[in-house]
Amino acid sequence: MKLSENFSLKPYNTFRLDAYAKYFAEFSSVEMLQEVLEENGGLQKMILGGGSNILLTKNVDGLVLKNGIEGIRVVGENETFVFVQVGAGVNWHQFVMYCIDHNYAGIENLSLIPGNTGASPMQNIGAYGVEIKDVFHELEALHLQERTLQTFSNADCKFGYRESVFKKKYKGEFAILNVTFRLNKKSSYNISYGAIEEELKRMHVGELNIKAVSDAVIHIRRSKLPDPEVIGNAGSFFKNPEISVRHLNELKLAEPGMASYKINEQIVKVPAGWLIERCGWKGFRKGDAGCYDKQALVLVNYGKATGREIYDLSEEIKLSVMEKFKIEIEREVNIL
Ligand code: FAD
Ligand code: EPU
Repeated sequence: MKLSENFSLKPYNTFRLDAYAKYFAEFSSVEMLQEVLEENGGLQKMILGGGSNILLTKNVDGLVLKNGIEGIRVVGENETFVFVQVGAGVNWHQFVMYCIDHNYAGIENLSLIPGNTGASPMQNIGAYGVEIKDVFHELEALHLQERTLQTFSNADCKFGYRESVFKKKYKGEFAILNVTFRLNKKSSYNISYGAIEEELKRMHVGELNIKAVSDAVIHIRRSKLPDPEVIGNAGSFFKNPEISVRHLNELKLAEPGMASYKINEQIVKVPAGWLIERCGWKGFRKGDAGCYDKQALVLVNYGKATGREIYDLSEEIKLSVMEKFKIEIEREVNIL
């Protein structure tokens, strides 16, 4: 397969950063991937999906392989569930819309998350009280060095909050080829999270249905998050941190309004967006790198920022949250 050389990744990352890949190719089948791996054994490889969760701080000195494997097919069903296998290159939101059209329930709360299905297990994408681990059945992946196929069950993936084996233990080792989801034929709605219920009321929804839940989620997301087509970003830049209840109680003496979500008797999760806002960053802009004015957890590129500038801003934010609250916030976005 012919490789493109010195290839601009600007249209391939939602931060719209103008970094270059030394070599670039796109594959649409496992055979094509096998071939390109065989022909380019010596090069460092990186699999790219929709580029909506990466920060390119420099040029990529290796081969970027864009996963373009298409296809959605039902591979099994029983009275309760339908099993749907989805090619890694299928746009995630298009798959959500397919499920809504077919009345397959379970991922309507994950509407409008950018990126491709193949990346969805990487960080166990989540929103509005649902994570893909709740509907994930299995995936097929190719080991990039050994060129062997492997199947991963839900337990094998070791999903956690914005985590999986692919983000840490097997980082950069596999190309995910397809993902099979177990969806519900009968809906059980998850509308208690955030403003969904309120939004459904505002929409005057009579009988609840998955399309209405999806519409409500889409509306809420559009009101808070910047559209990458307009302002470059990669969604939440940091994860929401967990702290001890004791630490929370100490902080609450000075910040009685601090929100928290119970994880267990000892641990709570606190919203990083709130911490960052309280440190004064919301709406901050230095050159073209900034902290979004409607959601402080989202860092943005107003046009000509470099990945390095956005990274440096994230470092300043991290340090100030540590200084003010003694809380370490971890980046969610993959730094390259
Ligand atoms: P990429 O950015 O292309 O890749 C991300 C990582 O996965 C990279 O390390 C890459 O090497 C690897 N990778 C990608 N595809 C494969 C593959 N097939 N095999 C092996 N490795 C692969 N995320 C959430 O969880 N919840 C949200 O609510 C959410 N909201 C967002 C809102 C906005 C506006 C934006 C821009 C992003 C948001 N995100 C959210 C983050 C992002 O959409 C998800 O992480 C998404 O799954 C990334 O998919 P992608 O195809 O763009 O991955
Ligand atoms: N908040 C502030 N100021 C801000 C932003 C948020 O005070 O600038 C407060 C809000 O008032 C609210 C709390 O923080 O009390 C939580 O805010 P929000 O509901 O907007 O959600 P989030 O915790 O900031 C998380 C995910 C999002 C996901 C939403 C909805 C992480 C890192 N982020 O954001 O995921 O869409 O919940 O479920 O967990 C992503 O991963 O890229 C992403 C966008």
